[in-house]
Amino acid sequence: MNSRQTTRSALILFGLLALPAFGGEPDVAWDERSRALADQLMSELQAELGRAMQQGGPVAAVAVCKSRAPEIAARLSASSGAEVGRTAIRLRNPANAPDDLERAVMQGFAAELSSASQAGTAPPEAIFESRSARGIERRYLRAIVMQPVCLACHGATLAPELVMAIAREYPQDTATGFETGQLRGAVTVRWPATR
Ligand code: HEC
Repeated sequence: MNSRQTTRSALILFGLLALPAFGGEPDVAWDERSRALADQLMSELQAELGRAMQQGGPVAAVAVCKSRAPEIAARLSASSGAEVGRTAIRLRNPANAPDDLERAVMQGFAAELSSASQAGTAPPEAIFESRSARGIERRYLRAIVMQPVCLACHGATLAPELVMAIAREYPQDTATGFETGQLRGAVTVRWPATR
């Protein structure tokens, strides 16, 4: 399934939860801006992670993930006017908890990743609107898929020093036991209420 089809099926799937006011094709402008923000967040995080792993090893990289991941997301949010971040069903940092819609979308992503061979294809994404206390928001989610490099800190077997480092920083961690190719979480982009 290519990403365009994925977007469509997500729209149909979540049409019931989202707003009736949402008709036709998504607004190309915020659609594309969301994708660009997700690209930027993921590439900056990957670069930071790679550098940290190389320079200080995985234990030092835990501290880098802890400080840099929220900083990068906050900077992209401030410069774009959207709320940019990462979320997951099984969390490391409770501050990244999803809302009900994000959870439902990620369950769809997980099913999609487990049913189809995703090798070489773009990760699934979803585009929708939702109503909250803040009004109608435009939302974008893109699946974050487990890669071999993630196993050190999110896999089934962690080095003892990593188990200790993660337990120290994240006593409520539930983000281990993943395999390559599985859904780890999602990038989330929320545009503020427009009406
Ligand atoms: C060096 C250890 C380490 C590695 C390697 C690592 N992570 Fe993480 N990951 C963390 C830490 C620490 C956090 C918590 C960051 C925070 O406080 O926001 C985290 C958080 C996350 C989150 C945010 C959701 C949550 O559970 O809080 C996602 C998504 C994620 N990682 C995906 C990945 C992916 C995908 C890879 C591989 C490309 C990866 N991680 C590699 C340590 C790691």
